[in-house]
Order: sequence, then structure tokens, then C-alpha cells
Amino acid sequence: MRTVTIAVQALVRVAGLIQITLGVLLWTGHGTQLVGVHMLVGILLVLALWTMAALAARAGTPPALWILALGWGLLTVVLGLTQTRLLPGSAHWLIQVLHLLVGLGTIGQAEASAVWMRLGAANVSSAGQGGNRRHSQLVHDSSGEPVSEAPQGARRRHSHGGDPPLRPRA
Ligand code: HEM
Repeated sequence: MRTVTIAVQALVRVAGLIQITLGVLLWTGHGTQLVGVHMLVGILLVLALWTMAALAARAGTPPALWILALGWGLLTVVLGLTQTRLLPGSAHWLIQVLHLLVGLGTIGQAEASAVWMRLGAANVSSAGQGGNRRHSQLVHDSSGEPVSEAPQGARRRHSHGGDPPLRPRA
């Protein structure tokens, strides 16, 4: 599942970058022939968001996260398909800004789901090993104040006075 999450996250990043670039081109009146590509990449991004939401649901993230992702994806597609007809005239820039924000929200939510899953996995693995405290211990200065954290192995080597001496072979 981790591999799928990483693959979908990479897809979201690449497609997101393409989408923002195409959006800026369209906004500045260039590349109108690329609208079809932009719509296709947008739909791909929504499908990636839904895939991420499904993975997050399986990983046990709160239902609010993937319910929001489902609704947001739908809003992205509906707004993208209808935006040219909404508020025609001088106020159309409002729809353009809304479309951009909703699109950025799609990308951001897919990223957030991936982070959620990674954090969840990290917590589960550290809980299984008894938490972080067992892996690192605070190093104290001479007054007993904690100054930094050091891995347990490093501390143990220090208390033994360094590496064991080499013994000559028999
Ligand atoms: C998912 C991330 C998306 C981002 C970041 C994004 C961004 C943008 C931006 C900045 C523009 C130029 C400003 C504007 O005309 O509104 C634009 C235009 C456009 N977008 Fe998107 N978009 C996304 C998804 C979609 C989707 C899913 C569709 C449709 C299925 C779509 C359809 C369109 C269309 C048709 C235009 C041209 C509008 C016109 O010619 O006036 N976009 N997009």
C-alpha cells in the first residue's frame, strides 16, 4: 500500500505542476488549444485524489477526510466543466479565482492524505517498538540539564569507554 501511495503522490505532484502551468497559460490568453489537455489532466488529478482518499480510508484515517475528498473532487470537475458559463462579464474573474483555488485544494488534499497515512504508519511502527523514548535518550550535562538526544547505541558505547580493544588472533 505504501508503494501505491508514493506512486499516486508522485503523479499528483507532476500532474499538479502541469496543471498550474497550463492554467497560467490559459489565464494569460495563451495555448487555448491546450484546454482539452488541461481538462484531461484535471480529471486525472481528481481520480488521483479519490484513489488517495480510498487508500486513506483503508488506512483508518477519519471519515471526514475522505468524505471531504469525494465531495471536493466532484466540485472540481463540475466547476471546471461549467466555469466558462458562470458569471459571464466583468465579474468572471471571480469564477476564475474560485476555479484556481478549488483546483489547488484538490492537489493539497491529495498531499494531505499522503502525509496523514505516512504519519499514521510512523506512529503505528513507533508504538510497536515501545515509542520513541526507547530509541533515543536525553543526554544530560554536568548539572543534570538535558542538552540533546542521542541514540541508545551511541550512549551505550560511550558508557563502555569506546570500542572494545582488538584482540590478536590465536
Ligand atoms: C485540478 C486542478 C486545476 C487547476 C489548478 C486549474 C487551474 C486553472 C487555471 C488557473 C485556469 C485559468 C483561469 C481560468 O480560466 O479559470 C484554468 C482554466 C480552465 N480550466 Fe482548470 N484547473 C484545474 C482543473 C480543471 C478541471 C478538472 C477542469 C475540467 C474538467 C478544468 C477546466 C478548465 C477550463 C475549461 C479552463 C479554461 C476556461 C476559459 O477558457 O475561460 N480545470 N484552470
